[in-house]
Amino acid sequence: MKNSSRRGFMGKAFGAVAGIGAVASLYAMKKSWDPLPSVKAAGFTTLDMSIYNENELVVEKWRGKPIFVLKKTADMVAKQTEEQKVRDIKVGDAHYMVCIGLCTHLGCIPAYDAAKEGFLCACHGGQFDWSGAVTHVPPPRGFDIPPFKVDGSKLVLGEAGPEYKKMKETGVTL
Ligand code: FES
Repeated sequence: MKNSSRRGFMGKAFGAVAGIGAVASLYAMKKSWDPLPSVKAAGFTTLDMSIYNENELVVEKWRGKPIFVLKKTADMVAKQTEEQKVRDIKVGDAHYMVCIGLCTHLGCIPAYDAAKEGFLCACHGGQFDWSGAVTHVPPPRGFDIPPFKVDGSKLVLGEAGPEYKKMKETGVTL
């Protein structure tokens, strides 16, 4: 009798520990499935634009697509041509290139060379400058710019703000 009540106690204790373990692993699994802090539900990605370094390409994600974010240096901003200026996204005092990181030829992901301030698509030799404009064919156009809205120091991808609408109307992006 003594033994059976001891077994009962051990069984309950084991069950409690196993239960806590199961809850802990479910919590860990949920955390690993949760989107990154920059990613919101319903197709919107909010980027904190204050975290980027100049001339350092960062690849974010929006609706499963790579998004190139490049904060321009003061030198880049100063030497921008008209074609480069119209692709510029200004957040506060900083200027950025924010584009879908897929070559507009056949969809490869070009690589950025910070020293040359340009992108090379290894698939067929297409090249883009640091504003995302084409500098060497075969890509038929510059990188596409995703719908965006400037919200203070943040950029909301997936929402079409006035700056994006103007780009679209003037044919800067699709
Ligand atoms: Fe980039 Fe062809 S896919 S040049």
